[in-house]
Amino acid sequence: KNLSIIGAPMDLGQLRRGVDMGPSAIRYAGVIERLEQLKYDVDDLGDIQIPRPNRKEVQIEDNLRNLKEVAEGNAQLANSVDEVVESGRFPLIFGGDHSIAIGTLAGVSKHYENLGVIWYDAHGDLNTGDTSPSGNIHGMPLAVSLGIGHDRLTGIKDYTPKIKPENIVIIGARSLDDGEKELIKEKGIKVYTMHEIDRMGMTKVIQESVDYLKDRTDGVHLSLDLDGLDPHDAPGVGTPVMGGISYRESHLAMEMFAEANFITSAEFVEVNPILDEKNTTASVAVGLMGSLFGEKLK
Ligand code: ARG
Ligand code: MN
Ligand code: MN
Ligand code: MN
Repeated sequence: KNLSIIGAPMDLGQLRRGVDMGPSAIRYAGVIERLEQLKYDVDDLGDIQIPRPNRKEVQIEDNLRNLKEVAEGNAQLANSVDEVVESGRFPLIFGGDHSIAIGTLAGVSKHYENLGVIWYDAHGDLNTGDTSPSGNIHGMPLAVSLGIGHDRLTGIKDYTPKIKPENIVIIGARSLDDGEKELIKEKGIKVYTMHEIDRMGMTKVIQESVDYLKDRTDGVHLSLDLDGLDPHDAPGVGTPVMGGISYRESHLAMEMFAEANFITSAEFVEVNPILDEKNTTASVAVGLMGSLFGEKLK
């Protein structure tokens, strides 16, 4: 039971400043103590260094805002995550905007033949520069990890793709762009939208997701975007979408993942304390980590 924490204070994958303070907000909400109480050996490696762009010449080449800095930050993150996995410890990454999943998956996936990914999110993050309505790279990390996108991003760690479409499960989707919907169809990616969550109930959704991934993967990464939750429960996010997964459903999901004992790496992203109400969203993230790592009510 050894965890290594890495903070990725990245805010260049989107336009709302403040999400770079996510790692601090999560630490401030008591994450280390919470995990130590569960008898983990917790090693906080601190934050990686994100390059600052020259604000006078914000580059948005190929509809990819801050491409150079996002690529450099993610290359660093990939190296740190790689070392953690290499050393046999569980990597737990705090964002930062969701573009950091590019680096996390680049670092994790080379250690697996068939890495599974649970993408807990209101969004698909399956855009490319060609399909993105915003040019924001935080809307692209899942596509990049599939090998689709700019080669400065897909080429991190010198291998691509990082993951296979059949090893992905998206949970909580309720805002998908046209290009993303096409990609989901074309690649046959498994998606549980809010419609399915409402209809089937979270228990069945998670059960099916676990069964689906268990046989076909040799490790599973959880990429949890706090905007997957309803904005009432997690208000401190840059791209809130109403009608989301509840606090209780989210805890249930984490508890079921803990029971299944198959998550091998995780990241909690898009916590923006500037947009938050008294650090609620970071606290929710820490509570979810408690459940994910085996906290029990009795
Ligand atoms: N689909 C929109 C875009 O590509 C929103 C993406 C939001 N992504 C996120 N990680 N919060 O711009
Ligand atoms: Mn999102
Ligand atoms: Mn996301
Ligand atoms: Mn509500």
